[in-house]
This record gives sequence, C-alpha cells and structure tokens, in this order.
Amino acid sequence: MTTTHNEVPNTQRRGSAPALDDLSAEERLSIDELRALQLERLQWTLRHAYENVPLYRRKFDEAGVRPEDCRELADLAKFPYTTKSDLRDAYPFGMFAVPESEVSRIHASSGTTGKPTVVGYTATDIDNWAGVMARSIFAAGGRPGHKVHVSYGYGLFTGGLGAHYGAEKLGCTVVPASGGMTARQVQLITDFRPEVIMVTPSYMLTLLDEFERQGIDPRSTSLQVGIFGAEPWTEHMRREIEERMNLHAVDIYGLSEVMGPGVAQECVETKDGLHVWEDHFYPEVVDPLEDTVLDDGVTGELVFTSLTKQALPIIRYRTRDLTALRPGTARPAYRRMDKVTGRSDDMIILRGVNVFPTQIEEIVLGTDGLAPHFQLRLTRQDRMDHLTVLVEADPDAPQERRRAASNEVAERVKDGVGVTVGVEVVDPESLERSVGKLRRVVDQRPPQ
Ligand code: DLL
Repeated sequence: MTTTHNEVPNTQRRGSAPALDDLSAEERLSIDELRALQLERLQWTLRHAYENVPLYRRKFDEAGVRPEDCRELADLAKFPYTTKSDLRDAYPFGMFAVPESEVSRIHASSGTTGKPTVVGYTATDIDNWAGVMARSIFAAGGRPGHKVHVSYGYGLFTGGLGAHYGAEKLGCTVVPASGGMTARQVQLITDFRPEVIMVTPSYMLTLLDEFERQGIDPRSTSLQVGIFGAEPWTEHMRREIEERMNLHAVDIYGLSEVMGPGVAQECVETKDGLHVWEDHFYPEVVDPLEDTVLDDGVTGELVFTSLTKQALPIIRYRTRDLTALRPGTARPAYRRMDKVTGRSDDMIILRGVNVFPTQIEEIVLGTDGLAPHFQLRLTRQDRMDHLTVLVEADPDAPQERRRAASNEVAERVKDGVGVTVGVEVVDPESLERSVGKLRRVVDQRPPQ
C-alpha cells in the first residue's frame, strides 16, 4: 500500500483543505470503487479466517454460513459476531491465522479482569497500519518534515508504536517521549519545538497545567496540531484545549483488536467526526440489545471487520463503543463516525435509572473548581446500589470551592439525571490511570 504524501509543509496552510493531489491513491477512490475493493477484501478475509482459525470455523459452522455465502457487502450480516471474550478464551495465540514464525509484532491490552487480550501483526500488517496512521496524521494537519512528539505509551499498548511508525512513514521526525515524567515532556516540547503532539486528551490537560506551572504560556509553544484519542473526550474539551494552547485539536480512534490507533481519524479542515479508513476496516453499527444492523445515521454499537489483516483477521468485532455512521465529507468515499462518547458496557442502571458517564461528564465540566477527570464507583450497602462520583479538583481551586463543587455536582445529577449520588472531590491526579487512561466505571458490588 503506497502513501503519496510528498508535500513540503507550509505552515500558512494550517487548517486548510489539502489539495486532492496530496491525498493517497486510496483516499481518492470513488464510493463505487471503494465498495468493490471492500467486497473483494471481505471475501478474502472470510476465507482466510475460516481456513486458518479454528474458532471462526466453529462459529461459522454453528451459524450455518460459509465464506462463499458472502456475495455482497450486506451478506456480512449473516456472519457471527466476535467478542472480547472470544479473544480472551483464545489466549495467547489461538486467534492467529498465520504460523507464529510469521508474526513480527505482538501487542496486548490489559483487561479489567484476568488475562490480557493479545493481538499479532505480520510485517505486511505493520506496513498497512503505518499507512493508515500516516494518512491519519496527514488528515490531522501533520506534514512530512514536521516533528511529532508522541506521548502515547510505548510498549504492549498500541498507542506509542502505532503513532511512531505512522509518523515515520509520513516522513516526520518522531520524538518517542512515551507517557509520564510530565515536567520533562514540557521541557522537550519547549526545546525541540514539535509541530504535532499525539497524546491522550486527559494527559494533554495535565501537560497544559504543567506548562502554566512552569510559567510558560501554552499558547506560545511550537505546537500546531494535537491528535488526541484512546479515550472519550468532548467538544467542550476541544474548545478548552484549542483556546488554551492555540492548536488544532483533532480526534483519532482505534482499538487493538482491530489494529490500534488509526482506524478512524478526524480531518482538520472539517472537524466533523472521524473518517473510518474503510479500505482496511469495514464498519457496521448494530443495536446493542437486538443485535440487528442499524441504518447509517442511527446511534448504536460499532462493529468492525478487518479487510486486509493477515495475522489476526477479525470478523464483526463488537467494540462496545457507541456511535453513528454518517456520509463522508473531507474524504468523500469514507464514512464518518460520530465522536465516541460512551460505551454500551459503561451504562449503569442505578435503581432503575439508566446513567451514562457522559451525562455526569457534562455536569463535571460545567462546574467550577473541578478538573475534567472523574470516575464512577459502584458499591452496595444493605442491598442498595450506590454510585459515587470521584472527581479530581482543579489544582488551583481553594478548599472551600471543592466543598461547594461537590454539593453542586450532587444537586445537578439529582435534577438532571434523576438519581442520588455521592460526590467526592479528590486531589489532582490522584485517580489511578492505566496507559494514561482513566477507567470510567469501577464496579465494586459483590455478586448478587
Ligand atoms: O486505545 C488505541 C488508540 C491509541 C487509539 C491511541 C487512539 C489513540 P485500546 O487500548 O485497545 O486501543 O482501547 C480501545 O479505547 O474501544 C474505545 O473505547 C477507546 N477509544 C479509543 N480511541 C477513542 C476515541 C487504543 N478517539 C478503546 N474516542 C476503544 C473515544 C476511544 N474512545
């Protein structure tokens, strides 16, 4: 897969639409060409999975479908779903469709319980991944010759290495900072003068605070583009980061089971949702309860089928992420997905009321004295479920403000969501993060 991004950067053009010639050949496909390519690749993927992965063979046989039953893209709906527990049960390498000797990289995501989910890549897979990541960075406004500061964690997490290979492929200079050591990150950004930063949005806020703590105006840095993902973030956070940092904040989405970062990317010129790189990842949105495929424009659970992956073909993977598909804009053939703001498995039913973490987030963001970092803790006392919102204080907020903020959040949750919750305002950066991400919901209820 070739990526033809040879333009020398012109910072004056920051935020303007790239000329069509700047886009890779795949990005310039018409919808019909893309659909034909997808069908051909889907048929290959189904055969490859059926022939080489016992789990897929068993699931297809049980569902009474064969790879040759896929004659058009809509036929994919006849095939069974794959879930995270399928991957866990196949631990460590049971989902691989190629001999282990052909796997050139392994990543893993730490599960909330027990074994990690293991994924593998052939050299071709790595090259395709770097290709979609290069496209993503370009769509975000990065250009060959730019310096890219990568603060996603390096290691088994796909964020660091995924961003790294993509930035190199685009022709950028990579600074592999990884996560942590916040004061040193600020120094590196100040001294190396990168144009692009790739980091989780919550860690970007931590970096912002550190710039201010060191007496450096964050608006004065060299950064022009921030590519933020790996966790949900909101339009409110975009506005805050863009205002405080004077850069373009764009969203990147991905997951290790499907590839890693670079499955979908928001374009800087439109900032209107994330274009799914559909020549490699076929998206569907399904009703999370009925399991039926929904029309474009309707919100439901995102499901992905890989189209080119050799080591770990993935068929109809239930991401649990909630979104809707929309027609393409800045990349016309590629559908967009709405920003992911919730997960179907994060929904809490508290004494009969459905509570989504995004509802709480809106309230936290709109309350003075609080940082946008919170966690929902579920406990049980006397057979009653209790929800506690643990939220970090804004580092500059005085103690009295913390107390007032806690009361305000409790009241607004009661009025707006309709449930009584406890609120604890905790010290800045005291909630535990794993690879830079905060777990939104911690369920400590004993089994019934
Ligand atoms: O988080 C890959 C990644 C790294 C994406 C860096 C973007 C940037 P996992 O650790 O497997 O992979 O976690 C995947 O994270 O199912 C979503 O729930 C969430 N997620 C990822 N990107 C976004 C985003 C990486 N932009 C899970 N918005 C996914 C909201 C996101 N949630």
